[in-house]
Amino acid sequence: MELPFAESYKMKVVENIRRSTREERSEWIKNAHYNLFNLHSDQVYIDLLTDSGTGAMSDKQWSAMMLGDESYAGASSYYKLKDAIRDITGFEYFLPTHQGRAAENVLFSALVKEGDVVPGNSHFDTTKGHIEFRKATAIDCTIDEAFHTELDHPFKGNVDLNKLETVLKKYPREQVPLIIVTITCNSSGGQPVSLANMKAVRRVADKYHVPVFFDSARFAENAYFIKMREEGYRDKSIREIVREMFSYADGMTMSSKKDAIVNMGGFIGFRHKEDFEKATTFNILFEGFITYGGMSGRDMNALAQGLYDGTEFDYLHTRISQVAYLGKQLREYGIPIQYPYGGHAIFVDAKRFLPNLPKEHFTAQTLAVELYLEGGVRGVEIGAIMADRDPVTRENRFPDLELVRLAIPRRVYTNNHMDYVAATIINVYDRRKEITKGLRILKEAPILRHFTVEMERV
Ligand code: F0G
Repeated sequence: MELPFAESYKMKVVENIRRSTREERSEWIKNAHYNLFNLHSDQVYIDLLTDSGTGAMSDKQWSAMMLGDESYAGASSYYKLKDAIRDITGFEYFLPTHQGRAAENVLFSALVKEGDVVPGNSHFDTTKGHIEFRKATAIDCTIDEAFHTELDHPFKGNVDLNKLETVLKKYPREQVPLIIVTITCNSSGGQPVSLANMKAVRRVADKYHVPVFFDSARFAENAYFIKMREEGYRDKSIREIVREMFSYADGMTMSSKKDAIVNMGGFIGFRHKEDFEKATTFNILFEGFITYGGMSGRDMNALAQGLYDGTEFDYLHTRISQVAYLGKQLREYGIPIQYPYGGHAIFVDAKRFLPNLPKEHFTAQTLAVELYLEGGVRGVEIGAIMADRDPVTRENRFPDLELVRLAIPRRVYTNNHMDYVAATIINVYDRRKEITKGLRILKEAPILRHFTVEMERV
């Protein structure tokens, strides 16, 4: 008999978690104003709010932390990280930041000004937030296939080159400071971008002389999908693929809390010295001196090791197979989810799950609350709440997709936990016809409202 694939690691430290009763959860979610971000973590049994900063570090990462050099300037930890970034991504210059959005803040302070447009593939919410905060506009150029959850396409994160070229033709060069390609594309369902598409974006960008930056939080998962799905890459190693991916970019922003499996950290990688120098002042202003920029030495050490851990094929295979293990159970039951399964998460199509709920009742948020009530499972809404209001008209924006994302932390949960999550969702699906009323907003912030919004039942 062929031996099955099993996890490429074993456990050395465990953390206890507790199941609660439905009555307790009812009370807790009401007190949290139906905002899952307001729950205390011990009120959650399986926490799939995010895969960001929630991973389990390896013994090698923990031991690297003990060797952290906390010198203000020129720490060995900085040079260790610099070497790892150059080795894995090929970028010669880098600035450390405390997380991904800090990298965006520093980079955009150097590049983006009022009135600019920044094309890309479904910019992540903090990316869009940082663009709009500067009174610039993020233009979504993702392929249309991404917005049909049932449609099978190997690279639903791809940039539509016609849409991109239309933007580049319409606006003068001075108004387009950069193109951002998000790998994998979180907002369209953790979907990968093909190498052929990256190469083609590069070609179009060169034609219009616009730099390309990759929002690289899940670059290694993207490389895994290229290896498994793209013609000609089956025999290449993950690290070879990663090197080729980044060869098409002028730089990258990184939230290290995802594919580098650390609890906090980020960086910006640059190919060109001029870009690095332009951003340096902002890094010193907002983050810290260039050899630590928002990170302690021990954290830079853990990150350097994490870049290697996160680009191991066996680890990536373990991880992405676990996401698919959950996805398969849901799909076989007929639950509408984004297909193919994402790299870091399963995205439940809330509009098709609850077709009778009017969009003004915030379909995905309502479903996320139901999953919590049913089993203490915490996912996150990626729908109208997260889409914020239009910055000009102040009307609610209702995106094409209303999704509940179930993001799986790295190296944290077992497949038994996934079985529990699947059962929770199936139970809610069985009683979906009884869910006819959703939520309304009581209080909200002007931007990135999903973190703090307060709601009540309609
Ligand atoms: N870019 C992408 C694609 C992201 O998914 C995130 C964060 C960021 C940038 C910002 O990074 O959190 O380190 O400041 N995504 C998290 C998530 C929050 O849950 O998907 P950060």
